[in-house]
Amino acid sequence: KFCGNCEVKTMSEKFYLTTPLYYVNGVPHVGHTYTTVIADAIARYKKICGLEVYALTGTDEHGLKIERSAKAQAITAQELTDIYAEAFKNAWQELGLKFDEFIRTTEDRHKRAVKKIFNRIYDNNFVYMGEYAGNYCVNCEAYVPEGEKMCSDCGRSTEYMTEQSYFFQLSAFQEKLLRFYEENPRFVIPETRMNEVVSFVQGGLKDLSISRTSFRWGIRVPENDEHIFYVWFDALTGYMSGVGFGTQEKKFQLYWPADLQLIGKDILRFHAVYWPAFLMAAGLELPHQILVNGWWTVDGEKMSKSRGNTVTAQELSQLARPDYIKYFLLREISIGADGNFSYDLLLSRVNTDLANDLGNLCSRILKMVKNYFDGCMPDCREIEGGDVDLKRFTAESVKLYRDSFDRLEINKAIDKVWELISTVNKYLVVNEPWVLARDPSQRGRLGTVLYNSGECLRIIAILMAPVIPDGASKILKQLGVKTSLDDHRISHLSWGGLEQGSSIGEIEPIYPRLDSTDFMKCVDEKKQRRGVKRTKQKEGTEALELGKIEIEDFAKVEIRVGKIITAEHIKKSEKLVRLEVDIGSETRQVVAGIGDSYSVETLQGRLVAVVTNLQPCKLMGVESDGMIVAASDEGKAVLVTFTEPVQVGSRLR
Ligand code: ME8
Ligand code: MG
Repeated sequence: KFCGNCEVKTMSEKFYLTTPLYYVNGVPHVGHTYTTVIADAIARYKKICGLEVYALTGTDEHGLKIERSAKAQAITAQELTDIYAEAFKNAWQELGLKFDEFIRTTEDRHKRAVKKIFNRIYDNNFVYMGEYAGNYCVNCEAYVPEGEKMCSDCGRSTEYMTEQSYFFQLSAFQEKLLRFYEENPRFVIPETRMNEVVSFVQGGLKDLSISRTSFRWGIRVPENDEHIFYVWFDALTGYMSGVGFGTQEKKFQLYWPADLQLIGKDILRFHAVYWPAFLMAAGLELPHQILVNGWWTVDGEKMSKSRGNTVTAQELSQLARPDYIKYFLLREISIGADGNFSYDLLLSRVNTDLANDLGNLCSRILKMVKNYFDGCMPDCREIEGGDVDLKRFTAESVKLYRDSFDRLEINKAIDKVWELISTVNKYLVVNEPWVLARDPSQRGRLGTVLYNSGECLRIIAILMAPVIPDGASKILKQLGVKTSLDDHRISHLSWGGLEQGSSIGEIEPIYPRLDSTDFMKCVDEKKQRRGVKRTKQKEGTEALELGKIEIEDFAKVEIRVGKIITAEHIKKSEKLVRLEVDIGSETRQVVAGIGDSYSVETLQGRLVAVVTNLQPCKLMGVESDGMIVAASDEGKAVLVTFTEPVQVGSRLR
C-alpha cells in the first residue's frame, strides 16, 4: 500500500470513516455534534488499535433550500455557505473533534468528482432523460412518495413540481441490492435498520430523478447546462471527492471504499439504498458498513427553531468541557437508540461518573503514592489471591471492552471500564492501604496494593482515551507515564506496563465537580438568550433586553432608504403624522410617532430608514404600511440620517 500524499509505503491497514456532510442551513446543534462525536471516538479507538485512520466530515452546500435562504438574507448562496461551513469547522475544533479532511460540496475538486461519477454511470447506460412530476419537500430536498402531500420526515407541506430530468435506473438494482444485503448482513447496523432497508427494497424500487432544472444553485450536468444535479446525488459523492476521486487517484485508491459511514436514521435510505446503487452502477466498491444513530430530543421535544429549544454546539462547548459533553453523549444511550438531552442529566452523569467515580479514584491513588512513597511509584512485591483476581478482572475487562467497541457498542465498552473502576475501588476498600500505612512491617504489601491500583488506573486511562482524551492524558501524566497518548496501542495493554520506581506527576483534580447551582444558572442564561427576556429595571419599568440572534433573524427585517414625499399631522393626535414615503419600488403610507419631535414642514424631502416588511396596521384609523426607524432619546424621536448620497430604495443590512 502507498500513502496518497507522499507515495511512501504504509505499513498498517487503513480505516476510512465519514460523518454525514451537514446542511449549511443553520449552525450545528447537539444532533450534528452527536454523530460527529461518535466518529471522533471511533477514529481514536481505531488509531490505538494500530490502524491508519482517515476521518472525513464536511458540509452539503447546494440545493433549493440554500438558494432560498440566501435570497431571504439578501446575500449570495456562496456567502451563506461560507459562513456556515466555518461555523461547523469551528464547532468541531472547539470540541476537540479531529478530522483529516473537511469536504465542502461547493469545492472544485468535488464538482469534478460528481461529473466523473455521473459520466461513468451514464456510460454504463444507467441514465436516461424523462419527465418528473411530484410533490417535493424543499426542506428535505426530496420528492415525497406518490399520493402524499406532507413530508413524512419533517412534517412540512410539499410543493407540486414537474420538470425534465435525468433519471437513474434504480429499478435495475433491486435484485443486486438484495443479494448484497444478504451477503453482508451487517452492512447496516443496528440490525433493525438493516431490516427496514431490506423491506423497503423488497417493496420495489422506482427509477430516481437525479437532475433538476427548477433552480440554479448546484453542480451542472456535463453537456447539459440547464440541468443541475439533485443534491443527494451531489452530496453522497462527497465521501469520494474528499479522498481524491477524480483529482488524486492514488489517494482514492488508498482509502476507498469507506470502512464505516456514520449517519442518523433520517438519512438511512439515501445511504443504504441509493448510494450503493450509484456505486454499483459506476463500477465502484461499496462502503463496508453504515452505523445508524438514533435521535436526540431536547427536554422531551423535537428540536426546532420555532420552539427555540435548539441546543447548539457552541452553547454546549461554552457550558462544559469537551470531555464532559463527549462522555455524556456516548454513555447516556446506545448508538441506535433515541435519547433525551437535558442539562440535568448531563450534570448528574458528569458529577457521578467523571468527578466521583473516576476523578476520586485517581486522586485517592495518587495522593497515597505521594504521601506514603514520596511520589515514587512503589514496586509490586507480595502477590496475594486478591491481586491475582484484580489482574484477571482487568484483563477480562480489556477484552470485553474491545469486543464491545469492535461491535461499535460504545456505551457498553464504557460500562466495562466503569465495572473495572468500581472493582479497583473495592480492592482499595478491602486492602485498606491507609491502614497498612500505619504499620512499617506492611510496607511491601502497601506498595503492592498501590502499584496494582495505579496499574489499573493506567489501563483505565488508555481504554477511556477515545472518549475522554483530555482526562485520559492528564491521568497518564499524573501517573508519571512518559509515552504520549498517541503512541499507546491497545494490544500493549498487558499487565505491568506501569514503571516501578518512576516519579509521578503533579496531582491536580482531573474532573472537578460541576457546581449544580452555577451550572444551571449558566444554562438558564443560555436558554433566555435564545429568546427575548423581560427584566425589571431599577425604576420598576419593564424593558426589553434582547439576547443574541442569528443572522437570519436579522435578515428577516427588510429596512430600506425612503424619501418622505408628504407629511401631515393626524387629527386629534399630538404625536402621530401621516407620511407618504417613496421606497424606490413604490410609495407607501406610513404612520409615525414623530410629530412632537419634528415639524411636518422639515420632514418633506427627507431621507429616512423604513422597515418595509412589517404587517400593516391601523393607527388612529389610518392605515400604516411600514415603520420609520428612529432612536428614542428620552422620549424624543431622532431620525436616522444619511450623510453620504444614497439611492432611494437601497436596503440596510
Ligand atoms: O441530512 N439526533 O444533513 P443534516 C441525532 N446534508 N442526530 C442528528 C439529529 C438529532 N436530533 N439532528 C441531526 C443532511 N443529526 C444531509 C446529509 S450526507 C451525503 C448528506 C445528525 O444537516 C444525524 O447524523 O440534516 C443526521 O443524519 C444528520 O445530522 C443530518 O444532518
Ligand atoms: Mg436534516
